Amino acid sequence: MITISFINMKGGVGKTTSVVEIAAILAKEHNKKVLVIDMDPQTNATLSLISFEEWEKIKDTSTIADVLGMNKSASSRDDEFDIKDAIIESVGGIPNLDLIPSHLELTFLDLDLVSVAARESILKNQIDNSDLDYDFILIDCPPNLTLAPQNALVISDYIIVPVVPEIFPAIGLPLLVNRVKKWKKSFRDCKVEFLGMVFTKVDGRYNIHAQQMVALRKEKVIPCFSTIIRQNVDVSKSVAYHKPATVVYPYCSGVQSYRNLVKEILRKIP
Ligand SMILES: Nc1ncnc2c1ncn2[C@@H]1O[C@H](COP(=O)(O)OP(=O)(O)O)[C@@H](O)[C@H]1O
Ligand SMILES: [Mg+2]
Repeated sequence: MITISFINMKGGVGKTTSVVEIAAILAKEHNKKVLVIDMDPQTNATLSLISFEEWEKIKDTSTIADVLGMNKSASSRDDEFDIKDAIIESVGGIPNLDLIPSHLELTFLDLDLVSVAARESILKNQIDNSDLDYDFILIDCPPNLTLAPQNALVISDYIIVPVVPEIFPAIGLPLLVNRVKKWKKSFRDCKVEFLGMVFTKVDGRYNIHAQQMVALRKEKVIPCFSTIIRQNVDVSKSVAYHKPATVVYPYCSGVQSYRNLVKEILRKIP
């Protein structure tokens, strides 16, 4: 089981889109069993894979908020919420693709769990105590390093950092690298490594994009994937159908690029 978190402290850089398309391609075209965990209270990955109506039905009883122990008093449940109860199987029209959805309440996770011991390891304990059987777990993180993404990092083997090659999305990169380094010192059994940075939403008409890609490849703060993901409106349109573009527009240029990225990811992972 290989776990990859998608992190950048900047929003709007293609974290969610990358998680959804990479998960879909791994499941649909490489026959891998894949679990997407939506760790972002914005619930964008969730609603890219299931409908709003479907989410409404389960959102107050079985989401990542329940896995992390947020709703205990509300439901008078004790410690034994089973992570499997939060898994929705075969989402986005893909049989091998499962989802643990998110909840808007996750915004208050840090406040709610402030007095809980080992609160960074709740997800790890849940997974250790279950017999989940996936080839890949992909985690969509919010643009920060609060408690939810910390729970993701503890169980992650790798981090992928989507970056729009402009100035602002790159500003937080050294900070992110240093934070993760510091973090690993305090969590000795956390073995997470940066797998790479992927340039997203690249627009050939902007000189700044070409310049920033050259600069960031040279700086090597984080190693860069050679595949880049260009601007392609089709990858943003498929959310209307609550399915990945890989399913709705399988031949669009964005999906073709994500296919190349998946090949590169599989080559990079030992
Ligand atoms: N390659 C792309 N081409 C065009 N639009 C994209 C592309 N990747 C992402 N988008 C759009 O950009 C917006 C932000 O992407 P998203 O994946 O939600 O970023 P994040 O999760 O980092 O906030 C969304 O509207 C998404 O549909
Ligand atoms: Mg997102």
